[in-house]
Amino acid sequence: MAHRGGIGGGGYSEDPDRYLYVDKGPMYNTAAQADWTAKRLVWVPSERHGFEVASVVEERDEDVMVELSENGKRAVVNKDDIQRMNPPRFTKAEDMAELTCLNEASVLHNLKDRYYSGLIYTYSGLFCVVVNPYKNLPIYTEPIIEMYRGKKRHEKPPHIYAITDTAYRSMLQDREDQSILCTGESGAGKTENTKKVIQYLAHVASSPKGRKDHNIPQSETQRSVKWQGELERQLLQANPILESFGNAKTVKNDNSSRFGKFIRINFDVAGFIVGANIETYLLEKSRAIRQAKDERTFHIFYQLLSGAGEQLCSELLVESFNNYRFLSNGCIPIPGQKDKDNFQETMESMSIMGFSQEEQICELVGFVCFLFFFNPSSASRVHVISIRSTFFASVYERFI
Ligand SMILES: Nc1ncnc2c1ncn2[C@@H]1O[C@H](COP(=O)(O)OP(=O)(O)OP(=O)(O)O)[C@@H](O)[C@H]1O
Ligand SMILES: [Mg+2]
Repeated sequence: MAHRGGIGGGGYSEDPDRYLYVDKGPMYNTAAQADWTAKRLVWVPSERHGFEVASVVEERDEDVMVELSENGKRAVVNKDDIQRMNPPRFTKAEDMAELTCLNEASVLHNLKDRYYSGLIYTYSGLFCVVVNPYKNLPIYTEPIIEMYRGKKRHEKPPHIYAITDTAYRSMLQDREDQSILCTGESGAGKTENTKKVIQYLAHVASSPKGRKDHNIPQSETQRSVKWQGELERQLLQANPILESFGNAKTVKNDNSSRFGKFIRINFDVAGFIVGANIETYLLEKSRAIRQAKDERTFHIFYQLLSGAGEQLCSELLVESFNNYRFLSNGCIPIPGQKDKDNFQETMESMSIMGFSQEEQICELVGFVCFLFFFNPSSASRVHVISIRSTFFASVYERFI
């Protein structure tokens, strides 16, 4: 459940096809087709499953007598509560707009059926429905990006890359702005899929002019960024910074965005990325001073306190977690995440983004910690900080 998903290729030994392509066997299974016709299978409401399979035994004026497939029990159901079932050839349909019987039960069943087979993307007309896999799938690598590049939507299995490619090609063809909206409840996968959209565009629309052989590549992730220009790297690295300062662990999502964002990417006439800007909205500021039980404040505070190292901590006058009342639940660890390592990544992202003095940001965060910690006997120590930066000096004067 890493929230810092790597970009680019390699690292997966699993076959990506099983997470993309449907096994067509059940669709053309003649026995299943005969069963569906003979038994007159339908969906009936179920408390446990939402809907369950039943066969029609007898139709009356208002009601229908059905036999539940799971246990053979009979039940009388109102005709209005019965939903028709699609024939087996629509099993795990890639586009639900093509279903013969387009009803709630069939849509839910189709999504569930695909999800249990490892297929997280399903189209519904213009929309792409995504179900969170809660594990890293081998479907976001460079070869997969290449597979979707320039292909029509229905030529390849459903994927966020196909949606992105369609938007990109429409922009080039129609010369009109395009937008992709990611929506859903907390933890649905909006942030992760937004990153995949950016990853795809940074790959296919990377200007050859901006490309350099960067001198960093060591890790798998770093090796895969060779194809990117400076601008594309910056576009990708904006996210870790935004997440550090604007995301937090909640009970629903270990990396919940506590703000909304609008990302605008600009392209030149040839379709190369020439710039981008990100607007953020409605940051949940109250989280900086108080958190609900089992929740945390913004990641950056934990990153700084555990990753800054002894020297920087003493320069910034930051103390251990327990000394800060604003970290109202202390230091709750996030499973599978190391705040210390994430601190290094945030710093790296800042230098890629061209922040001139990464330390300024640390000082700022450290100073926020300090203000929350402040007691008059520490006033002389504040002086140490205030002389380091005129910004702090002005903040200090306002507060103290
Ligand atoms: N495609 C994916 N592959 C692997 N893991 C994923 C994927 N989508 C989501 N996840 C997992 O689910 C978690 C929650 O997803 P994400 O942060 O994108 O949700 P969100 O919709 O942005 O939620 P919020 O509204 O709280 O910000 C991620 O941190 C990641 O662990
Ligand atoms: Mg999010």
